[in-house]
Order: sequence, then structure tokens, then C-alpha cells
Amino acid sequence: MKTCHTEQSKGLHLSIDGLNRELAPVFREGIFKRVVFYESTTSTNDRAMEIGDQEKDADGVVVVADTQTRGRGRHGRSWISPPGVNLYFTVLLRPPLPPDRASLFIVMAAVAVTSALRRYTGLDVRIKWPNDMLIKGRKVGGILMELRSDRERINFVAMGIGINVNLTPDIPEGQMILPATSLKEEGGRDLNRAELLREALIELGYRYKLLVEGNRESLINEWIDLDSTIGNRVRVQNMALTASEVKVGIAEGIDEYGRLILRLASGRFETINAGDVTILKGRDQN
Ligand code: BTN
Repeated sequence: MKTCHTEQSKGLHLSIDGLNRELAPVFREGIFKRVVFYESTTSTNDRAMEIGDQEKDADGVVVVADTQTRGRGRHGRSWISPPGVNLYFTVLLRPPLPPDRASLFIVMAAVAVTSALRRYTGLDVRIKWPNDMLIKGRKVGGILMELRSDRERINFVAMGIGINVNLTPDIPEGQMILPATSLKEEGGRDLNRAELLREALIELGYRYKLLVEGNRESLINEWIDLDSTIGNRVRVQNMALTASEVKVGIAEGIDEYGRLILRLASGRFETINAGDVTILKGRDQN
């Protein structure tokens, strides 16, 4: 295949040997223990959920695919996952925490991956609540967390992360809410996906420890530094199953559970659990 050939000649092809080599320093840190690689699979979240259900001791597993045939985003959207260009991976973790802490994992993952992207590329990558990574308002990555839990504790978390790395974005209209970009598009060069994955896992491991040790304050402070939403007038659309609820207000920050704090026109504050945020510009502001 043409793409693969180009990839191989640049040393950018993903393989299980290459990943094991690149991730060796990550595995020595102890949070992440092994990597599972698929040339092609439906969704790395599917594979991670299977491992979580079938292997009760599996913890710190990283599932990576070169392409996904049914990659998915939030609210049932599809995540376009062509081969040879991007990063699609899911980390399986078993945090010893109650389920009311679950949304903090998205905070943790967004802060960690955004920090890794900024450090590795030097680009001004920002977070848009709850799970988008943006460069100049265009989407470069997203996070889809799925989990199993009972009332007392989280059984496991499957944190799926997609990053547009070397993609030349031509994503069909209507498949993405935000215009898309990629690290290559913004930085002008091909990047090594295995190295980028290593950097993301280093940042994730470090912040996972913080979260499990109860240090959510530093994560929330980091979020506030990286956020592109706070201080803006925003519209939040809550994609409930039966109705579509819309709220407009000023995004004031996130609370200790990772929920968006919105100041409504009445002056009342409201915390939002889930939804799509649009930063209002131009005539939308009225
Ligand atoms: C979103 O922005 O709506 C979330 C996108 C998450 C995409 C990643 S790619 C790896 C993992 N596997 C999936 O099917 N989805 C996530």
C-alpha cells in the first residue's frame, strides 16, 4: 500500500516490536504494563472493554490500532480512523475510586494528553470542555471514556484517545462538529506516532498517580491553564436521549468533579455534567 510504503521508508510505521521498544521506559514506571497492537480493529475501546471484562487482573493495558473500522466518538458519532496516519489508543485502568470520581478521569486524560502534545510539538494545543483538544479552534484530538462500575467502586475505565497526527484533514461534512486539523497540518512536519504515544503515556501515568492519591486540585489548576472555554460566553447542548436541552452562559471554570460551571444570564450558577460546548462569536452573542 502506498501510505504504508511511505510510512515504512520514514520509519513511522506502527508495529508491536516498535511499540514495545518505544514504550519500554513507560512500562518501567509501573502504571502501564503492556501494549496490545492491531493493524485493524473495530475500535480500541471495544478491545479494551473485552480485556477488562475477561481478565479481572488486567490493569495498565494499552490497546493501539493503526486503523479502526468502527471508531467512535461521543454521542454515537463516528471517529474517522484511516490507516498509517493517526493515533488511536485506549488505556485500561482499575482506579481504586468510587464512581463519582469518574468524570475526573476525563479531566486527567485531557490535561495529560494536551500537555504531551504541547511538549512534543511546541504547538499551542488547548482543551475545550469536556474532551476536545484544539489548535486555533480546530479539533486535533478527542477522548471517549467508557467504564464499568457498581455503586461503590469503579471496576475499570477504558479511556479511548484519538489524535490526528499526520492526517491531511478532509473529513466529510457533518461527521465532525468542529472543523478538524492535525499536528502535521499545524506544525508542517510528519511526526513519529510511537514517540508521541510514549509522551502521552508518560504524562498520563504521572497524573493518574496524582488522581489516585487524591490530588485533584493540581489537575484542576492545570486544566484552567490549558482551557480555551473559561471566561467565554458559551452554548451548552445536552444530548439527552429524548430531548435536546440548550443552556447559554459564561463558562466560569470546572468544579472538583470536573463539571462545567456556567453563570447564566440570571446570575445563577449551574454545574453541567455532559454536553457539547460552542464558544459563541459574532451575532450568536446576542
Ligand atoms: C470525541 O471527540 O467524541 C471522542 C473521540 C475518541 C476517539 C478515540 S480513537 C481511540 C478510541 N477508540 C474509539 O473508537 N474511540 C476512541
